[in-house]
Amino acid sequence: MEPTILTSTMAHVPGPVTVVTTVDASGRRWGFTASSFSSVSLEPPLVLVCLGRRASTHTAFTGVRHFLVNVLAHGQVGVARRFATSGIDRFAAGDMESCELGLPGLPVACVRVACSTHSVVDAGDHSILIGRVEETHVSGRIPLVYYNRSFSRPVPARAADDQRLSALHLAGW
Ligand SMILES: Cc1cc2nc3c(=O)[nH]c(=O)nc-3n(C[C@H](O)[C@H](O)[C@H](O)COP(=O)(O)O)c2cc1C
Repeated sequence: MEPTILTSTMAHVPGPVTVVTTVDASGRRWGFTASSFSSVSLEPPLVLVCLGRRASTHTAFTGVRHFLVNVLAHGQVGVARRFATSGIDRFAAGDMESCELGLPGLPVACVRVACSTHSVVDAGDHSILIGRVEETHVSGRIPLVYYNRSFSRPVPARAADDQRLSALHLAGW
């Protein structure tokens, strides 16, 4: 499988946009933008996020005991871009506050999920950070969505769309 075929295929799978943060033993804050956030297990309560092994944040995140997943709201495209930009101080904007477990978080995030590190699994060129959920916060804001390499927002499906899709399905599409 050509990597470009996989990436262009996965570009058509919508995903959340999160900023994952932590603090290392020296007190330094770390963070990166990730769309690979998913729930894993209810008992115990586990979630995951995948982090590239070559990322500047990899050593920090694979060594910490806690991390915070900030699921971005639809107005936070600038935050998503900043935490994906190399070679800058991603925290310089000053929009992070101490949140769950004392970790740096975004007060206007859609959702925050605070985790203790359950395990780190090697998976090809990424590491899977599996977190045990310790605390959550839900704001009710509309989430930001990443789809077709663009930032977007969810639009509720209309009954008319459902009927049109059903008709296509019946017609053999
Ligand atoms: C919308 C979006 C989603 C991303 N999702 C991930 C992800 O799930 N995992 C990951 O390792 N990097 C992801 N990245 C890339 C990282 O945010 C970051 O750019 C990369 O780790 C390189 O950063 P570095 O300068 O710290 O090495 C994503 C970037 C964007 C813009």
